[in-house]
Amino acid sequence: MNREQRAALLAEEMMAFQALFEPYLEGLLPGEGLEQQTVADAMRYSLLAGGKRIRPFLLVSCHKLCGGEPGQVLPLAAALEMIHTYSLIHDDLPCMDNDDYRRGRPTSHKVFGEAMAVLAGDGLLTAAFETALQARVEPALLCKAVQELGRAAGLFGMLGGQSIDVESEKKRLSLDEAQMLRMYAMKTGALLTGACRIGFAAAGVSGERLEIVTEYARELGLTFQIVDDMLDKTGDFALLGKPIGSDEKNQKTTFATLYSLEQCEALARQHTEAAVGAAQRLPDSDVLVALAEYLLERKK
Ligand code: IPE
Ligand code: IPE
Ligand code: MG
Ligand code: MG
Ligand code: MG
Repeated sequence: MNREQRAALLAEEMMAFQALFEPYLEGLLPGEGLEQQTVADAMRYSLLAGGKRIRPFLLVSCHKLCGGEPGQVLPLAAALEMIHTYSLIHDDLPCMDNDDYRRGRPTSHKVFGEAMAVLAGDGLLTAAFETALQARVEPALLCKAVQELGRAAGLFGMLGGQSIDVESEKKRLSLDEAQMLRMYAMKTGALLTGACRIGFAAAGVSGERLEIVTEYARELGLTFQIVDDMLDKTGDFALLGKPIGSDEKNQKTTFATLYSLEQCEALARQHTEAAVGAAQRLPDSDVLVALAEYLLERKK
């Protein structure tokens, strides 16, 4: 399969996935008539605001690659997207990046106030575990998959990375390149790595193939955040749906402040090549290769 064919396959797979995923996600959160309606509305507002749905797509694609059916793991995919959305709501708060737009809309705290935005994030994190356990996966495999979910989200994953990011920004510590890469692998890489590992765990696949897909996702995550840093400088608000120049406003050290845009591009390309190299060691991995190629070129 050449690159053009892979891109077409990816577009087709993503469309088919979204047709399944969006209505499922829509049905997960309660609608009207609650006493605690405000926080429920805030949870829906952010979760159903669009978003590329890269992490749930990756989870389902990895599960499929191991012979699984998408319908079995939609609850796990939704859980991961809930955790990702919670991380965005909290990342945008005034005490973190203090941003006013996300997914093309005013941020949660702008609409619902800070207290409700904190609670909406907490609500999505909690709902994620309740939802994950509804997956139609054998109990022992589901336990392993949910353990991966918690690991990816927490102290040794996204949350740990966000902590290092915020602390180094507020204290004006300058991280070196190796520290930055470790932080990126956690704050951004962990949920992508989690997506792959959950998909594999739910299919009962471990061992060498799991190691290879973990390596793929780590490289994908590094590219993802380096490109995100570049888009913070060069992106288009209408496409990106979040403010341009947020990192500069916060005087945050990123790859785009450490290096020139050309150097960032070269680094992102290197990590993409490493991701593609890993994916190619797995059977039936055209979609994973195509996703890595797409994420290098993305404009949103
Ligand atoms: C944004 O993630 C946060 C980062 C890790 C850079 P996405 O770019 O996947 O955001 P959505 O889900 O499409 O809104
Ligand atoms: C945050 O990185 C990644 C998360 C875990 C939310 P950024 O702070 O750069 O993400 P954006 O640019 O706000 O989406
Ligand atoms: Mg941030
Ligand atoms: Mg941010
Ligand atoms: Mg950013």
